[in-house]
Amino acid sequence: MLFGSCQPEAVSDDCSVVPGLYNMASFPIGVAVDLVELENNQAYEALLDQQFNQLTPENIFKADALHPGQNQFNFLVADRLVAYAEQENKSLHGHTLIWHQQLPQWMEGFSGTRSEWEAMFKDHIQTICSHFKGKVRAWDVVNEVFNEDGSLRQNIWLEHLGPSYIEKAFRYAHAADPEALLFINDYNLALSSKKQEAFYKLVDDLRKRGVPIHGIGLQMHISIAFPSDDALGSCIEELAKLGLAIHLSEVDISINPYNRNITYNTDLANRQARKLAYLLQAYQRLPEAQQYGITFWGLSDLESWIPSYFGRNDAPLLFDRDYQVKPVYCQFKKLLP
Ligand code: G3I
Repeated sequence: MLFGSCQPEAVSDDCSVVPGLYNMASFPIGVAVDLVELENNQAYEALLDQQFNQLTPENIFKADALHPGQNQFNFLVADRLVAYAEQENKSLHGHTLIWHQQLPQWMEGFSGTRSEWEAMFKDHIQTICSHFKGKVRAWDVVNEVFNEDGSLRQNIWLEHLGPSYIEKAFRYAHAADPEALLFINDYNLALSSKKQEAFYKLVDDLRKRGVPIHGIGLQMHISIAFPSDDALGSCIEELAKLGLAIHLSEVDISINPYNRNITYNTDLANRQARKLAYLLQAYQRLPEAQQYGITFWGLSDLESWIPSYFGRNDAPLLFDRDYQVKPVYCQFKKLLP
């Protein structure tokens, strides 16, 4: 165990894992999926199948995985997740077409004229969207395009195509799969008012110009310490005024945001439960038509990206490292639908 022996108070007796979360909710309950665990860890697969009905591939739909060479696309691994989702009647949320991370080396080092860059960009998007046409409910078309100060993040797309790459990404994706819902996805929008304002203005402009954008993804990598409940609530309320679908797309709630040498305890567990409860209640205040779904960024604390990325003990998800429920799961479930 990463934490000390101290365990939070026993999870309340009525907190059973059945029925699963998605059976209780009026909107999809999603999870970021690690295909290696799904195919090799029976406890992982059983819990995922029981609790979640929407799947976001954590990594295998990213550019480095799907498009390893300029003229080489590799869908074999991704198609295994598609097959699982179809077999288990779960929707798929494609993540992500255009990002600044997890780019294959050939793409990072691509050299060409502006029209050659645009042709490569279009080929990337449309080959992928065409391949998954009819199999993916939605796409994170562009991911994390803003800096914390609201300026556009420097990336190869902005460098070689200019700011219009964002609009073009949506138009190319829509042309390849007119049925897929198309999202813009970002993080820390409740923490940075400048980022939130820039995000709102961009989406509002795209929408008003008839660009095929259908939803916004608020990643919600949050913690028991920040953002405040009020900031979370007003962020969701403000961005919902755009009238698009709202996806809480990558939810995790760190209990150790300051990288301290902590022991998982009742107080931290209950603070985590309260924070998620507030987030859920803010989401439930949205019109149902805008409730695209809530997706957790990993099945259990064992698979979370946070401990390895930040090099710290943490327990940010609904299930512990032994796939047992935590108070945060029980509290979330109590508030559904
Ligand atoms: O697949 C390689 C493996 O072959 C190699 O041996 C290993 C060691 O170098 O790396 C493996 O790739 C890693 C990949 O996860 C798959 O495990 C990358 O190094 C690692 O950087 C990558 O981290 C992912 C990260 O995005 C970057 O793509 C995390 O798992 C994933 O949780 C995280 O998710 C992002 C969202 O996509 C966007 N929003 C933020 C969120 C958290 O950073």
